[in-house]
Amino acid sequence: MGPLLLALLTALGLRAEVLPPSNVSYSVVQICTLKWTWKPPENVSRSCDLEYSTDIAIDGILQGRSQWSKKLFRVEDVPMNKEVCLKVRSECKSDNASNPSDWAESLIPPKGVPDTEASNISCIWHNLKSMVCTWLRGKKASDRTNYTLYYWYEGLQSHQQCEDYHIHEGTFRCTFRLSFANSTSLYPTINILVRGDSEEVRPICESKDPATIVKPGTPKIVKLLNTNNGISLEWQQPDAFQSGCLVYEVEYKDSKSDTTTKIENRFNKTEIPSIHPKFKYTFKVRAKASLTCYSSQLWSDWSEEKSIGEETEDSDSTFYISLIVIIPLVVAVSTIILLVYLQRLKILILPPIPDPREILKRMFLEQNEDPQNYPKDGLVYAYDKLAKEEEINPVIWIEVPETTISGNKH
Ligand SMILES: *[C@@H]1O[C@H](CO)[C@@H](O)[C@H](O)[C@H]1NC(C)=O
Ligand SMILES: *[C@@H]1O[C@H](CO)[C@@H](O)[C@H](O)[C@H]1NC(C)=O
Ligand SMILES: *[C@@H]1O[C@H](CO)[C@@H](O)[C@H](O)[C@H]1NC(C)=O
Ligand SMILES: *[C@@H]1O[C@H](CO)[C@@H](O)[C@H](O)[C@H]1NC(C)=O
Repeated sequence: MGPLLLALLTALGLRAEVLPPSNVSYSVVQICTLKWTWKPPENVSRSCDLEYSTDIAIDGILQGRSQWSKKLFRVEDVPMNKEVCLKVRSECKSDNASNPSDWAESLIPPKGVPDTEASNISCIWHNLKSMVCTWLRGKKASDRTNYTLYYWYEGLQSHQQCEDYHIHEGTFRCTFRLSFANSTSLYPTINILVRGDSEEVRPICESKDPATIVKPGTPKIVKLLNTNNGISLEWQQPDAFQSGCLVYEVEYKDSKSDTTTKIENRFNKTEIPSIHPKFKYTFKVRAKASLTCYSSQLWSDWSEEKSIGEETEDSDSTFYISLIVIIPLVVAVSTIILLVYLQRLKILILPPIPDPREILKRMFLEQNEDPQNYPKDGLVYAYDKLAKEEEINPVIWIEVPETTISGNKH
């Protein structure tokens, strides 16, 4: 504004009655958190009830996060990979129609080369115990670029460096412990800073509300049995959660129809009625934080599958096994029968021709027969032995005294 215009505006009474704040500067109070400070304007009229109005612009776009305050500072989380501008002006609130001052600005350009910062940063809070964050290398970052993750939240003395790194197929992953003693749904925002290993790599900050990224631990099926009414199923609920803070999904399929059935459940057990006794049922369970406690939509991994009931595939396989055993058996038996039958047929058709030499030999042997020259064959020997034993066996006579007989007669 030229001095002439100023004089004109003052004459018309439209000129700002208060000057903008002076000496606007900033400092880094935490990773991802800046604190702007300023000094009050000079020559504030006595009637002026001075307040400061502030707003944040990121890459030139006002964030609509205006604040009015008498304080001479503002603390704000910033993304670090974008241009951040704090705008502050003075306002006299004494009269209703307050004329604000011009804006005083503090512009903070991002460091490093554009598009070298980590991209697709995503964090998941596993079972209220550990935070797992993943990200990809920036588009313009060199292949050798390595990143380091730092985190901080209200209540932590100073920021911490994540130590447990893994790089797998271009995805960076880092895990750090995160648990709060008294579990409430009011968790502090977690600030994550991912920085490169050189000045060229642009840093990037993201804020995560833990309650929105809860992923429960995997449930484990501990009981699966048949009852009078159907099948009873029970599983271990992931620890760390208060009762009523989890919902479950049970999915099961039977061996015949292969259709899956899903049921929602609030407790760690359920009953499946009207089952088919001849089918095999396969179950799995997963958990999700309930909306009454958390605002997370993440399901846990599926539990290991467990099955109950007759396995129809099994009876099929026994059928095939019996086929494999029975068929060769039948073939073998029929072959033997066939061979025997053929043998008989051969005898019928071609009766054996007697050998004349054999006949002569027999005749000769019969003439020279002398029983004592022959060794005692088994049968003869047995007869001999039996005869001898009969000779030796003593004959026992039981003498019945005549007196008893006569006594009986009396
Ligand atoms: C404040 O007022 C004094 C005199 O009242 C004047 O000399 C000074 O220039 C003023 N300051 C500003 C910044 O206008
Ligand atoms: C100031 O504005 C409020 C409503 O915004 C009104 O009720 C009040 O009368 C006004 N005061 C003066 C002095 O104009
Ligand atoms: C990348 O950085 C992390 C954390 O600074 C470190 O643990 C890891 O060894 C580095 N990896 C490579 C390949 O330099
Ligand atoms: C299922 O929940 C009940 C009630 O919360 C608990 O007593 C029981 O131990 C749980 N069962 C398993 C297997 O965790």
